[in-house]
Amino acid sequence: MVKFEDLDEFSAFDEAVGYASRQTERAILDFGRLFKPSSSVGNFYPPAENNEWTNGLWSGEINIMYELTGNDIFRDKALEHASAFRNRIETMYAINNHDMGFLFSPSCVAAYILYGSEDGRIGAIKAADYLASRFNPVGGYIQATGTIGDRNHARLIIDTFMNLPLLFWASAETGNPRYREIALRHYDTAIDCVLREDNSTYHTYWFDPDSGEPLYGKTHQGNRDGSAWTRGQAWGIYGSALMYRYTGSDKSLDVFWKTLNYFIDHLPHSVIPYWDFDFSDISGEPLDSSALAIAICGMYEMADLSKDAELRLKADKLLNRLYLRCAVKDPTISNGQLLHGVYAKKTPTNGAPCNRGVDECNAWGDYFYVEALMRSHAPGWKAYW
Ligand code: GLY
Repeated sequence: MVKFEDLDEFSAFDEAVGYASRQTERAILDFGRLFKPSSSVGNFYPPAENNEWTNGLWSGEINIMYELTGNDIFRDKALEHASAFRNRIETMYAINNHDMGFLFSPSCVAAYILYGSEDGRIGAIKAADYLASRFNPVGGYIQATGTIGDRNHARLIIDTFMNLPLLFWASAETGNPRYREIALRHYDTAIDCVLREDNSTYHTYWFDPDSGEPLYGKTHQGNRDGSAWTRGQAWGIYGSALMYRYTGSDKSLDVFWKTLNYFIDHLPHSVIPYWDFDFSDISGEPLDSSALAIAICGMYEMADLSKDAELRLKADKLLNRLYLRCAVKDPTISNGQLLHGVYAKKTPTNGAPCNRGVDECNAWGDYFYVEALMRSHAPGWKAYW
């Protein structure tokens, strides 16, 4: 159990931004027109095509670095990315799931907010249209994976919460309320299914493809169906904070605190969580630093919305541990930002097909770490979500 009174506040902002911005700048030069892939290999990302659910997070890292440093290398690359993402949605290249927010909020929405990019605006609206087309009106949820309407993919996942802000943004931008209505309906359906009595969450929930009735919870990337996958819990925290921003609803506020309290109560004494809350300091299992980075961003968001200084202080203290333990400070050990993440780990109880990105950097850990740096420095920062 974490004792916040024993933790120091984050005081290394300038040093951290120095390390992080040099990492991003070197990666831009190394990757050229290519992108950061989902996970590193031996802590080094090989350059990759723009064809995964995570590529927008690399754009987001670049946008944050522009905001933190004002260096034009970041702005120029971010504008190039907005054009690449517009092309990706217009050609429907590797667009076959719910991940439109992960892809288009930190790239296209950000480029529109920061630089007035028309590629950004058009790309993001088209991505919101596609995301809305994945809404199943009978079940009241956005279908996460698979071809739209495929009976073998009649399920939602908690990760989708991070894709809902794109829908709120699209309604505000176009004046069409439908995007927003879909986001509201999905959130309600999902929370009623995935939040358990003890305030832990299911990763995924299956539905009857004909009647739309909710059937049962399962895991996809957690240790077992009934366990709390650490990153899923973090998506619940940050997703609910963002929902509270867009709706002010009591429900999203309540779910934020329930999911956050579960997360904090289950952090190990050493603070950085293991990849599933089934595991503790004696488990020998790998950490998932990315989950902590996501939860910290959610805490900063809610601290801003609720003007909650105590919550901000807790986020600062967790960020300090994350920085000391996991941030890359030496480019010879990694070309990423945040060590010790897990994409997916196979166990006897989860049916995962293989290990992927275990004890590696990953694109979302890097992004949410630099977003946390930004938020630590700029209360009220306008998020890309
Ligand atoms: N959204 C997929 C993941 O968190 O691995």
